[in-house]
Amino acid sequence: MSTKKKVSLTGVKPTHSAPHLGNYLGAIRPALRMADQFDGMYFIADYHALTTMRDPAALRASIYDVTATWLACGLDPARTILYRQSAIPEVFELAWVLSCVVATGQLERGHAYKAAIDAGEAPNAGVFYYPVLMAADIVLYDCDVVPVGQDQKQHVEIARDMAERVNHLWGAGTLVVPELTLSDAPLVPGLDGRKMSKSLGNSVPLFDDAKSLRKLIMKLVTGSEPLEAPKPSDGTTVFELYKLVATESEVLAMREKLAGGGTYGWGHAKQDLYEAIERELGGRRETYRALRADEAKLDALLEEGAERARVIARRTMARVRSAIGIARPG
Ligand code: TRP
Repeated sequence: MSTKKKVSLTGVKPTHSAPHLGNYLGAIRPALRMADQFDGMYFIADYHALTTMRDPAALRASIYDVTATWLACGLDPARTILYRQSAIPEVFELAWVLSCVVATGQLERGHAYKAAIDAGEAPNAGVFYYPVLMAADIVLYDCDVVPVGQDQKQHVEIARDMAERVNHLWGAGTLVVPELTLSDAPLVPGLDGRKMSKSLGNSVPLFDDAKSLRKLIMKLVTGSEPLEAPKPSDGTTVFELYKLVATESEVLAMREKLAGGGTYGWGHAKQDLYEAIERELGGRRETYRALRADEAKLDALLEEGAERARVIARRTMARVRSAIGIARPG
């Protein structure tokens, strides 16, 4: 890695299902584009997933799904540090230190915890502690920027607060306080026009074969204008998705064809959309499958990254221990 570039850090939480087109267009692709300007660190936030995931086989599979997806989407392990959160024990030690400088009131205002309480649920303490572990993920690696979507903004702000508090109590420079950068996160409509989400049942799997992909795209809900009628473009699901995958001139062409009506109907638009998605994903499908089938290779890649991450983590933790009075002799 070059020493001139700033370091950005991205955490990816394994989820109950493999990443879908909405995750790709809304989060993965923007994150990878942005990371081009930085030396990137990426980790799989496997211990964060434990707040909700209870099935060991599903968690294990999900870690590989996510890793293979990011790699297939262009994450270059030679130019980045890719690792499992759980492979770096220092993160849990630092989390404890941070928990001792944050007021419980601030954690009570955490989005996820507050939402669970407001919904009358009885969240586990991991949900409460989530922002502390996330702060440790961030400040352990002396990173400069943390690009996140709107949903993670509060967590990064809490992390910055904690780092500032540590520096105030134990000396400037004990921790690097990273910048928060809001990543470009376009809204991706699902098959029914609502935001694409696995739980709404309107998502498009990323790496299904081309035939299944086409079948799903053809199911997309559209207006019911007859073939010859002029049709709207902006705001329609087909067109909004097309804008995310087609070139500028293709987008212009579809807009004109829809407005012109005549012989161009929603079925044609969906075919064009399918072709543009296939162009974007088709080549990555085989890469994904090959990677996903080779868990030993994924383990090796993650471990190589962990070795590099550990060097940074040990350095930070030594600095913190010494600052707070916990340093061991020798
Ligand atoms: N909480 C993030 C999410 O749910 C994942 C995450 C964990 C993370 N630690 C992080 C993101 C540190 C950025 C930085 O998506």
